[in-house]
Amino acid sequence: MSEKILQSFNLSKKAPAAGNGFSFMEGAANEISCVSPLNDGQLATFSLASAEQARHITQQAQAAFKIWKNVPAKQRAALLHTIANELAAAKDDLAQIMTHEMGKPLWEAKAEVQNCIDTAHYAATLWPHIGGQSYPSARPNVELYDKYHPLGPVLVITAFNFPYALWAWNAFIALICGNSVVWKPAPQTPLCAAAMHRVLEKALRQHKDAPEGLLCYILGDNEHVAIPLVNDPAYPLVSATGSTLMGKAVSKAVGGRLGRTILELGGNAAGVLTPSAHLEQALRIAYFSATLNSGQRCTALRRLLVHESIAAGVIDRLKAAYSSWPVGNVMAEGHRLSALVDATAAEKFNTDIDALEKAGVSLFRPNIKLPEGKCWVHPYMALLEKDAPQPPEETFGPLLYVQTYSSFDEALEKTNAVAYGLSNGIFSNDMAEIQQFLNTAESGCAMVNDNTGGPEVMLAFGGVKNSGIGSEKGGDSWKQYMRRQSVMLNHQKTIPADLGIKF
Ligand code: UN1
Repeated sequence: MSEKILQSFNLSKKAPAAGNGFSFMEGAANEISCVSPLNDGQLATFSLASAEQARHITQQAQAAFKIWKNVPAKQRAALLHTIANELAAAKDDLAQIMTHEMGKPLWEAKAEVQNCIDTAHYAATLWPHIGGQSYPSARPNVELYDKYHPLGPVLVITAFNFPYALWAWNAFIALICGNSVVWKPAPQTPLCAAAMHRVLEKALRQHKDAPEGLLCYILGDNEHVAIPLVNDPAYPLVSATGSTLMGKAVSKAVGGRLGRTILELGGNAAGVLTPSAHLEQALRIAYFSATLNSGQRCTALRRLLVHESIAAGVIDRLKAAYSSWPVGNVMAEGHRLSALVDATAAEKFNTDIDALEKAGVSLFRPNIKLPEGKCWVHPYMALLEKDAPQPPEETFGPLLYVQTYSSFDEALEKTNAVAYGLSNGIFSNDMAEIQQFLNTAESGCAMVNDNTGGPEVMLAFGGVKNSGIGSEKGGDSWKQYMRRQSVMLNHQKTIPADLGIKF
């Protein structure tokens, strides 16, 4: 990556490990290298933050909360619009950093930055709506209503695959609600977090009412940073994205101190392709849904369930699509196969493929030449026998299972026969079929003739079962970032009966 891009964010090859929105600090713990999966080249180094530095960041976020919660919501909205504008100005460079650091094709990285911009504007529009309902009282001259208050500093822990968006979906809603935010990014994407914070600094400096500590980030290991932060009662809400294993550990720790969590975890999305679907449309959407970001999305379409009457043609055309997938040159326009995030991810992917091969599953591998490097893997389609059980776990990479079904009920049963419930989809033009699918699918998101990926910003995003709890972004997700107070306001002039007590 050209040093120019680092410089455009005022970053050098040695990058800061923490920031409070206005100033940055180098870490006091171990040094790590940030390596590009595209060519194994070193991009920058970081010293991780220490436990002491994590405590310091928490104190700053607590102090900022005391100020920000009293800033009128309309002024908070103004900051969000400024953030959106600064993100738009830095869009291309932010996308470049992401592509180099975690491998996402540039056009997808730009789309992610755009999603953050849209989320900031959307969150700003919430300011007149973050209020409660009033209710009729059983008594005269008594008012009953819900009042919503900000919660406190919110801790946001993100995964590598959407290095900006997963933070933005939480941080922007948290901000409009009057909270401060501390971000612990994924170990694979420290540079994205540092670059994002340089952009935020520009926005924060334009708002006199935005205090230091309002938006913080900190890079550190589990032992000294992540686990102490999660255990810290200073954070009434911890929102984490990552594996189900991680989510359960966070849930246990935060639940143990009666804190609140939003957990956005693994997925294993099914897409039911019925004979009534518009085939040209369905094929393209299903293919992109399975292969965007080389399948490193928990919303990726993992299991395509195709009616047996159309299966042969669908499989042939998918084979042709995989065979024409351009590899490498992730800076070019068009849908590209990219490297996985790191060598560990590539090894895990190849181990999963070996296991399928050993189990006798029929695999299709397109004839594609991979670039040199430890993080590149071949894409696969796994053609499951009709009665084979559903693959229980997601393989985080370019693997799509394809299986046939005979009856619609069988397809619905297969859809739900996994422990995850983030997103599922159907390709159909039959209203009865579509409605039955929506009524049956056990998932936080259900897509009809559309990508199983994260929905547009005004819809809530979150899963059920092993995919997590709570939701981010739209709908009434903002309520999770606030505490509700039940108010009884008595303005009676009458004196209550003394009930035998002397006053
Ligand atoms: C999207 O699909 O656009 O990893 C976003 C995931 C989610 C985010 C999905 N954490 O798929």
